[in-house]
Amino acid sequence: MERISAIKELRQQVAARRLAGERIALVPTMGNLHAGHLELVKQARQRAGRVVVSIFVNPMQFGAGEDFGRYPRTLEQDATQLESAGVDLLFTPSVQEVYPRGQEAQTAITVPGISNILCGASRAGHFAGVATVVCKLLNMVQPDLALFGNKDLQQLLVIRQMVEDLCIPVEIMGIPTVREPDGLARSSRNGYLTAEERSQAPALYRVLCETSRAIAQGRSDYAALESEGKQSLMAAGFKPDYYSIRNAADLSEPNGEMQKLAILAAACLGRTRLIDNLLVERQEFPCN
Ligand code: PAJ
Repeated sequence: MERISAIKELRQQVAARRLAGERIALVPTMGNLHAGHLELVKQARQRAGRVVVSIFVNPMQFGAGEDFGRYPRTLEQDATQLESAGVDLLFTPSVQEVYPRGQEAQTAITVPGISNILCGASRAGHFAGVATVVCKLLNMVQPDLALFGNKDLQQLLVIRQMVEDLCIPVEIMGIPTVREPDGLARSSRNGYLTAEERSQAPALYRVLCETSRAIAQGRSDYAALESEGKQSLMAAGFKPDYYSIRNAADLSEPNGEMQKLAILAAACLGRTRLIDNLLVERQEFPCN
């Protein structure tokens, strides 16, 4: 596995592989890798001859008072895991390399609408930071395919819209969420949880499953389901930010016709903010 931190060298390496006719996949990450990230790598390897993984803790997507400073940085462990996972190229640029003029002077990408709801409502500027860095990484690598987790469903949809709106020639793939045996979605932020919080955390998935079951059984009183979900989260020790049932394709409010729904939640356990979601198909009920 090659390790590169300069954009110029990255471009040379990738260009040589493209000239050799290889299909190239990119998996962007912020490091502190876990089974979720490694699943993206595995899926990338099945679909492309060469896999590039980037590790960059992107300051532009963290708000003031968020965890940029204490975000776990475990580069050597990550590199060992990626090497055994068969990654060809690990790209680890510095902040200076990505934002040479500084973040304030950086041309930014804003994806309207979808960036301002749910997580975007409580994390102002977050999705502009994500869209900007992902756009830059796509331009640096120019992959055929880039893979993202459904775990961050809103992020995936922001990226899909950006790629469509800016005609970026890349295929974007969403990969199902990888979970712990008790249902908790794998996340670098799970490491912030105390032992007690860790034992409470799987309730987030359990509550999403309850709502999903209710929808599959025919309930469509979404406002009531959302408020029940919030109540259940509070009873389990969470401070919910949102609990929302949306159209899975664009996170708009559901109407009667939409069959593919997403149940999305963000909630705090102590100082740690966890997010998760489930995709559900609404059944056709001929009698109502
Ligand atoms: P990070 O949180 O490191 O996640 C990198 C990728 O792994 C994202 O696409 C995320 O959705 C996916 N992922 C995380 N946990 C997962 C899980 N349990 N199952 C499946 N996939 C999972 O998301 C980011 O970094 C950044 O915002 C980034 C896109 C790299 C831009 O900076």
